[in-house]
Amino acid sequence: MMIPSLNTPRLLLRPWRPEDLAPFAALNADPVVMRFFPYTRSLAESAAGMKGAMEALARRGWGLWAVERPGIRPFIGFIGLSEPAFKAPFTPCIEIAWRLEQASWGQGLAPEGARAVLDHAFGPAGIREVVAFTARPNRPSIRVMEKLGMTRDPAEDFQHPLVARDHPLSWCELYRIRAPRKTVELSHADG
Ligand SMILES: CC(C)(COP(=O)(O)OP(=O)(O)OC[C@H]1O[C@@H](n2cnc3c(N)ncnc32)[C@H](O)[C@@H]1OP(=O)(O)O)[C@@H](O)C(=O)NCCC(=O)NCCS
Repeated sequence: MMIPSLNTPRLLLRPWRPEDLAPFAALNADPVVMRFFPYTRSLAESAAGMKGAMEALARRGWGLWAVERPGIRPFIGFIGLSEPAFKAPFTPCIEIAWRLEQASWGQGLAPEGARAVLDHAFGPAGIREVVAFTARPNRPSIRVMEKLGMTRDPAEDFQHPLVARDHPLSWCELYRIRAPRKTVELSHADG
């Protein structure tokens, strides 16, 4: 399938290129970027992750896109959609996720890219609902969910099944957003 690229005023969300691996691996090995995850990622794990992201994008026409700032920086991270592999009360589902290098934080870039991803999800991809979740201490990511208009029911908070239950990052907040209702055009035969 053709992999769509998504444009925003400041970003290009595009298919991955081999030269993304070095900055992607650096992103995943940065302990500050990964402070709300139990582990940083090795080079081999990043390579496998990038391959999986590319294959999923090609197969479905949506997934995790590489994020470029055209004319400024060829790769600043990823934003996109994926299907969580673990089982929880809210799975199966499609989640939106983001990870940007530190130098790009605090400029509203994640919400800008994520809005384009949601438009693609609810438009061409035909997805009806998208969730997002993160560990409770990850307030920056929760701010992005709020900026997107996603909403949380505290009753849906959950302990991540792949994290030890007494780990400080175990409890997660779940946010949801649904596709806007289609406006139905009524045609009148004798209007
Ligand atoms: C979450 C993340 C993508 C946000 O991206 P962003 O483009 O900086 O988003 P915004 O500019 O809208 O900022 C969102 C919030 O981040 C926080 N923030 C901003 N600059 C920051 C900085 N330099 N350091 C830490 N936090 C910062 C603020 O709380 C901000 O909220 P505000 O706009 O109400 O002040 C980014 O912080 C990141 O990549 N984090 C590491 C990876 C991660 O945790 N991903 C999510 C996993 S679920």
